[in-house]
Amino acid sequence: MALPAAVYAYYRDGAGEQISRDEATAAWRDWRFVPRLFRDVSRISTELELFGARLAAPVLVGPTALHTLAHPEGEAATARGVEAAGSLFVLSSRSGRPLEEIPLTRPWWFQAYVLRDRSITEQNVRRAVAAGARAIVLTADAPYVLKRAVPEAGELGPANRPPGLEQDPALGPDAISWLAEISGRPVVVKGVLRPEDAVRCVEAGAAGVIVSNHGGRQLDRALSTARALGPVAEAVGGRVPVLVDGGIHNGADVLTALALGATAVLIGRPVLWALATGGAEGVRECLDFYGRELSQVMAQAGLATLDEVDSSAVTPVT
Ligand code: FNR
Repeated sequence: MALPAAVYAYYRDGAGEQISRDEATAAWRDWRFVPRLFRDVSRISTELELFGARLAAPVLVGPTALHTLAHPEGEAATARGVEAAGSLFVLSSRSGRPLEEIPLTRPWWFQAYVLRDRSITEQNVRRAVAAGARAIVLTADAPYVLKRAVPEAGELGPANRPPGLEQDPALGPDAISWLAEISGRPVVVKGVLRPEDAVRCVEAGAAGVIVSNHGGRQLDRALSTARALGPVAEAVGGRVPVLVDGGIHNGADVLTALALGATAVLIGRPVLWALATGGAEGVRECLDFYGRELSQVMAQAGLATLDEVDSSAVTPVT
């Protein structure tokens, strides 16, 4: 469906002057591949295992709010597309549909905010675990929700939202072990840009980190993830998986992220556009496109499996 202008703007926009949003994709293009010769690339595998889930490609669907604005079936259509593509859905806590109505047949993760009133967070997390969530993604880069044209808590605009539903702006790393304890699941912290924060997360019990600037929607002029990723991955040193999102638009962007130390990437807006234009089938096509492109780029770069991708695969332009 064609999106109403306000919905399109809500999905598309970042914060402030849109500087972080606008430079996200360009930043991946500041790297060049250094291909290997005489490698057997007659068979390429993009498969990987992440927290026990087998994925067709290292491309996950990141958490984005309110898929019902893009398609009448909302997250139910997204979930079917993800299943058909053999990917993994990170369901936003601001989902447009109750999670019990979403056909979550493949492994999936639940994204949580820690609210001022932790009992609400606890209730949401327990509900997600009861519905089968395999991991909890703690979004840590949004101490305050920015005012947006489309309210992110359903009918309630930020101005009218009861204080209990506000994120806790005093959140500390103890939230990681708290979430792990109440969920019994691995906790992945989303929103990391500094190496020392990644190390703090790992030391506080995180099972993974996601390098993200929230699609440029929280702090405008926040560092692009293509620049933040390498130092974060180096500091983590392989202790836990490092994931990344932000402006990843094709297989070359994915391979660059993997070479800079990511285990996998997440995509946000591209899935929303695919959902709006093609429903579940659109989401499947979108994910298949990334997998297919990644295979092609890997073959040309002389890389047959994800294990063969290392930092020597890329070099900075400047
Ligand atoms: C988001 N993002 C987000 N993140 C999160 O942790 N919880 C959420 O509910 C949302 N909601 C949301 C809505 C919309 C419309 C967008 C565009 C983004 C951030 C998202 O997970 C991701 O970090 C960014 O979208 C970056 O990826 P892309 O869009 O550049 O691929």
